Amino acid sequence: MRVLVTGGAGFIGSAVVRQYIAETDATVINVDALTYAGNPESLGNARAHPRHVFEHVDITDRSALERVFREHRPDAVMHLAAESHVDRSIEGPAAFVETNVTGTHNLLEAARSYWSELEGEAQERFRFHHVSTDEVYGDLGPEGPAFTEETAYAPSSPYSASKAASDHLVRAWHRTYGLPVVITNCSNNYGPYQFPEKLIPLMLLNALDGSPLPVYGRGDNVRDWLYVEDHARALRHVLAQGASGRTYNIGGRCERTNLEVVHALCAVLDELVPDEQGRYARLIEFVTDRPGHDRRYAIDDTRLANELGWQPTESFESGLRKTVQWYLDNPEWVERVRSGAYREWIDANYARRGRAV
Ligand code: NAD
Ligand code: DAU
Repeated sequence: MRVLVTGGAGFIGSAVVRQYIAETDATVINVDALTYAGNPESLGNARAHPRHVFEHVDITDRSALERVFREHRPDAVMHLAAESHVDRSIEGPAAFVETNVTGTHNLLEAARSYWSELEGEAQERFRFHHVSTDEVYGDLGPEGPAFTEETAYAPSSPYSASKAASDHLVRAWHRTYGLPVVITNCSNNYGPYQFPEKLIPLMLLNALDGSPLPVYGRGDNVRDWLYVEDHARALRHVLAQGASGRTYNIGGRCERTNLEVVHALCAVLDELVPDEQGRYARLIEFVTDRPGHDRRYAIDDTRLANELGWQPTESFESGLRKTVQWYLDNPEWVERVRSGAYREWIDANYARRGRAV
């Protein structure tokens, strides 16, 4: 099995690559542009493994993608490369349209041209797996039923709109050209190697620094949390077992308000690295909300459970503890990703927000 993974130096992609290398015989062709969010160090032992081939390629470069398909002849594609941070999409949407829409279009076209020349079983078994998000379904009220695969798309942010557009392209390439695709829409991931612009690692590292913990609005927005290694397993399972043309929602069965998440994180820190100045929750500050902030996401994963027999294994409590321990054990990784460019983003994003709303 030869899998072409895009975005394999990012948070979720690197977990997928590490698992393929450690737990299977697959060869991984890792296509990544190494943006601020990509880091080859996140690949761990997989980085130098003979079954891991790194291609430093931007998915907006169509001819480079065609070369990669010609040279490596993959059996399947798992497409994770994307601009992924909602707040950045609000400040600068263009990069999201470029990578998430144009980049996905390029990858679909390169895959279609390669796949159309395959023959027999190789052509039948080929898969293009598009990794997407629950944010394409939009905003749920507190009591609304969870998103199913039939929920109408209603994206709120430039990020989710660009992901919705890419999902539509993938479905159209299946219906019009017959390209064998699967799509997964997943909820919020957390775990080791997550870039510290996202809620959990940002709060964790701020707390260790004794810096404010900036909760947007009133902290009552709800997300469904899934441990990243569980997501990577689900992705590998769907790629192997999913039906062509089908969409599968993936969730953690773990809805929490942002404030609950931050308090849970502070409690783990209080236990593992007590601060003589007091409990970490004292650092919580309520700051100006994210424009267009979705109140709640919730995933109905019945299809994945019933048709493919998959469900998450990690509880939020155990996953959060593992995550905190990983960041405590890996200060070098943390220091290297918190470069000048990272500081600039943090300063700009939180200066804009001011303090208490
Ligand atoms: P990430 O931002 O950590 O990583 C993205 C990776 O893509 C990086 O390695 C980056 O270098 C690469 N990349 C970006 N632009 C590229 C380009 N033009 N060409 C090639 N490579 C490029 O993202 P993540 O959190 O690991 O998310 C991965 C995928 O999963 C995304 O498609 C995202 O929409 C989706 N997703 C994420 C979550 C989540 O909670 N993080 C949940 C559901 C779905
Ligand atoms: O739902 C899946 C999505 O989850 C993925 O598609 C995205 O790629 C991923 O970034 C994530 O999006 P969110 O916007 O939900 O994640 P983020 O970590 O940015 O924020 C989680 C919640 O925490 C959200 O309600 C905003 C809030 N928040 C975030 C930050 C960074 C804060 O209150 N303070 C903060 O400083």
